[in-house]
Amino acid sequence: MEKLLVVGGRPLEGKIVIGGAKNAALPAMAAALLTDEPVILENVPRVRDISTLRLLLEELGVDSSFQHNAKGNRLTIQARKLRQPRAPYELVKTMRASVLVLGPLVARFRRAEVSLPGGCAIGERPINLHLKGLRKLGATTRIVHGYVEARAKRLKGARFRFDRISVTGTANLLMAAALADGETLLENAACEPEITDLAELLTKMGARISGAGTETLRIKGVSRLRGARHRIIPDRIEAGTYLAAAGITRGHLILQRCRPDHMRAVIEKFREMGLEIKIRGRTSLEVKGPRRLQASDLTTREYPGFATDMQAQYMALATQADGTSVITETIFEKRFMHALEMLRMGADVTLEGRSAIVRGPTPLSGAKVLASDLRASASLVLAGLAAQGETLIDRVYHIDRGYDRIEEKLSQVGAKIRRVSTSPA
Ligand code: EPZ
Repeated sequence: MEKLLVVGGRPLEGKIVIGGAKNAALPAMAAALLTDEPVILENVPRVRDISTLRLLLEELGVDSSFQHNAKGNRLTIQARKLRQPRAPYELVKTMRASVLVLGPLVARFRRAEVSLPGGCAIGERPINLHLKGLRKLGATTRIVHGYVEARAKRLKGARFRFDRISVTGTANLLMAAALADGETLLENAACEPEITDLAELLTKMGARISGAGTETLRIKGVSRLRGARHRIIPDRIEAGTYLAAAGITRGHLILQRCRPDHMRAVIEKFREMGLEIKIRGRTSLEVKGPRRLQASDLTTREYPGFATDMQAQYMALATQADGTSVITETIFEKRFMHALEMLRMGADVTLEGRSAIVRGPTPLSGAKVLASDLRASASLVLAGLAAQGETLIDRVYHIDRGYDRIEEKLSQVGAKIRRVSTSPA
């Protein structure tokens, strides 16, 4: 069993290069199912969720190859034909984003069987809106033996309004509508940069999409899509996590190859807490942690609001800030497992429904802690960087799902962090 061992108390200093966005690369990979020509994706992060989706594509009968060079990572995917249209439980249960193959499979191959994902550490995560939207486009869906079976003749364009904003729901329907017959209007759609990135890729493949980045997407279906080459946008959550690392260690970091324009809400909030953040051109940020952090309330929102995927990291900072911060989670209302681990390190956090009340600053002391999900594990690394003594983070596989070599990147800027292997208890 691998764990991360962090010894706290060192200010971070230096440069970190930000990788490609996992949550943009995943839908881009699924989009490759829409054509028989190769789709070449650059700046794909080397994280476990990407390998999991590659495995799933392989199960479906799709070819892929991964190349790593100085300029980054390139993934080529070609879905010439399909062996079978089934996304098995064993893969879907390890990564809910597997559901992204549903829309493309139905649109191009007229059939999909995707396991329902089941429980999740961050709260309820139904896919009812994905299914409702696909039905609106003419598919039939039914649940059999834990799988969603969707079938259609050629999908037909339609107007669909999401009851609530869903990122992968929007991605799924955007991909499906690209090959539908006629025009589709998606209302109350997600505006996340990862959706805009997907729309850009689909457009290169020949799709006709307008309104990307707004809440209304208009898609004029085409009968065939072609291959394309596309560079995945930088990971705004990885970059935000390293901003928080500078803040919590009173360090000084330069983040390269990031997109500050995708990070406005995080930059603004961190500035309120006292972090000194300079935007250096289109792709770089400089951040200095203050001597004293200031408490500030936070509510998570869909983009362009403050991302739920940065809430746990924000909580780590709030434990070290002067005053009381009320953190309200509106996207995944139970996404507070990290709070319970931070309590064990000496934080003062009270949970009240969908809010966490954090009183700071409290000195943190290293402890053995358990990562419950990807961003929770990142927040525990941050807490460990600020704590006195050793923090041992268990279930580190969660962090490997979405952070490319976090211990290497942090070590390079002066953190004392390493991966340790222990025999199972
Ligand atoms: C995406 O998940 C991200 N995953 C998540 O990142 C992120 O936390 C989330 O969006 C919110 O920003 C990927 O992009 C691969 P949603 P997704 O559908 O699409 C409810 C990370 O750490 N909902 O936007 O699954 C749902 O329960 C991960 O990288 C329905 O009710 O999230 C939630 O409350 C974790 N019915 C809200 O909508 C549906 O059919 C938003 O979920 C779909 C969603």
